[in-house]
Amino acid sequence: MAFETITVETREHVGVITLDRPEALNALNGALIAELATAVRRFEEDAQIGAIVITGSEKAFAAGADIKEMAERTYPQSMIEDFIGGDWEAVSRARKPVIAAVSGYALGGGCELAMMCDIILATDSARFGLPEITLGVIPGAGGTQRLVRAVGKAKAMEMILSGRFMAAEEAERAGLVSRIVPDAELLDEAVKVGEKIAAMSLPSVILAKSAVNRAFETTLEEGIRYERAVFYSLFATEDQKEGMAAFVEKRQARFRDR
Ligand code: CAA
Repeated sequence: MAFETITVETREHVGVITLDRPEALNALNGALIAELATAVRRFEEDAQIGAIVITGSEKAFAAGADIKEMAERTYPQSMIEDFIGGDWEAVSRARKPVIAAVSGYALGGGCELAMMCDIILATDSARFGLPEITLGVIPGAGGTQRLVRAVGKAKAMEMILSGRFMAAEEAERAGLVSRIVPDAELLDEAVKVGEKIAAMSLPSVILAKSAVNRAFETTLEEGIRYERAVFYSLFATEDQKEGMAAFVEKRQARFRDR
């Protein structure tokens, strides 16, 4: 299937999805969200792929859900269709790690999409914001929950209640962004992180991601119990034997995802 609102490529073991609606600053309309979900699911199913990168253009990662498409929406329609269910959740449901490579605007649903990813790399020009309040609504794709967890209540409240944007440097300081990288290196750097992850044992990557995400969902005690069970389970893999043997033999491990 040819895509119209995104481009998709494979770089070694990393799947790269580029949001591509330049005329609307990559606003997330229904077509783009459906194509993004399809692309993510395909990479999830592809055994050659170990990580996924989502990026946009230099000017915009994504300037939010498509306001023109949303303007005439009604309450019953949104509720019955579960507007932000289904395809909108494809990225947050991915089991393989997803890296957001953000340049320019990451606003509203665009910021929320970045926050659904596991790691955010950004350039100096990145601007994060949840300006839905200026449209008479609130963030609807997880923003009120994920931003608080990422940057704490004070900054999240100010951004969500006043619509203030956060520049890249502040976003990195606050913990929303993992690293700021030079403009020209953004995609290569994100792919490099993806390649590094893809070289690890996939079962341990999937379970490490799942254990970290548990920290947001449960108590410390439960989370530690989960971590311990998962840790023990990895001793059942061939990759654990290979990884530790390689260390002892002073050679590179060759994981086979078993
Ligand atoms: N939806 C639809 N179209 C959008 C868009 C959006 N979210 N953001 C930008 N565009 C369109 C503009 O309408 C414009 O198209 P036209 O030339 O046809 O008018 C084009 O993209 C370029 O945008 P601007 O001329 O506005 O560019 P700018 O550089 O002057 O401003 C901006 C950039 C500050 C990002 C501004 O476009 C803006 O404020 N965009 C909206 C941001 C926003 O409110 N996002 C939240 C959306 S709601 C949401 O996301 C709900 C949710 O939680 C799921």
